[in-house]
Amino acid sequence: MKILLVDGTIIGRKTGAILEQVKLYIEETNPELTLEIMNLSDFEHQFVDGRPLGDYNEDMREMVRRFTEADGYIIATPIFQGSIPGVLKNAFDMLHPRTMRYKPVSIVANGGTYQHHLVIENQLKPILDYFRCLVTPNYVYTHTSHFDETNSIINEDVHDRLRELARVFAEYAKMSTHLSKETIDNP
Ligand SMILES: Cc1cc2nc3c(=O)[nH]c(=O)nc-3n(C[C@H](O)[C@H](O)[C@H](O)COP(=O)(O)O)c2cc1C
Repeated sequence: MKILLVDGTIIGRKTGAILEQVKLYIEETNPELTLEIMNLSDFEHQFVDGRPLGDYNEDMREMVRRFTEADGYIIATPIFQGSIPGVLKNAFDMLHPRTMRYKPVSIVANGGTYQHHLVIENQLKPILDYFRCLVTPNYVYTHTSHFDETNSIINEDVHDRLRELARVFAEYAKMSTHLSKETIDNP
């Protein structure tokens, strides 16, 4: 199975750091999963404006292709202005609603305010629910204080939660292989 680990920001380093850590934990316990990190900062973004897919630039089409070909996702996001970054929402807006259907998804996030883990509950999860993803019940929200000055995660509890996330994600990935992606009457 191909798992796409999406760093959903074009600025900052901490979401990328969490993603690299969770990648290591998944690799340790589930070497059969193929993991690929996709940094949104590597793409030249265009606003979704309703034009046909073929009229977007090569980067936007490549981004859609990588989402489409993946069998599961780890979505990493910082919190910006009490929400997810616009560039990540724009990436979701590019996707056909069936792109991530019945595929496993785990979320890791970082913010400067403890209470803003609720952004995951109230904003990111509803988007993934709309896509009918298999969102794992656990996600990991980190705070700036969980990192050292080189952006390494120094909080052991966060490491434990990332290991547990990796374990549960792998189980959801297995479960998703038994769930047909086809729908009966195209609903
Ligand atoms: C434009 C902007 C808005 C932000 N808004 C919030 C916010 O509403 N809530 C919050 O917890 N953190 C907020 N932050 C802090 C970021 O979430 C934090 O800087 C990021 O997760 C990690 O940072 P780094 O990789 O830039 O160090 C904001 C940061 C920026 C740049």
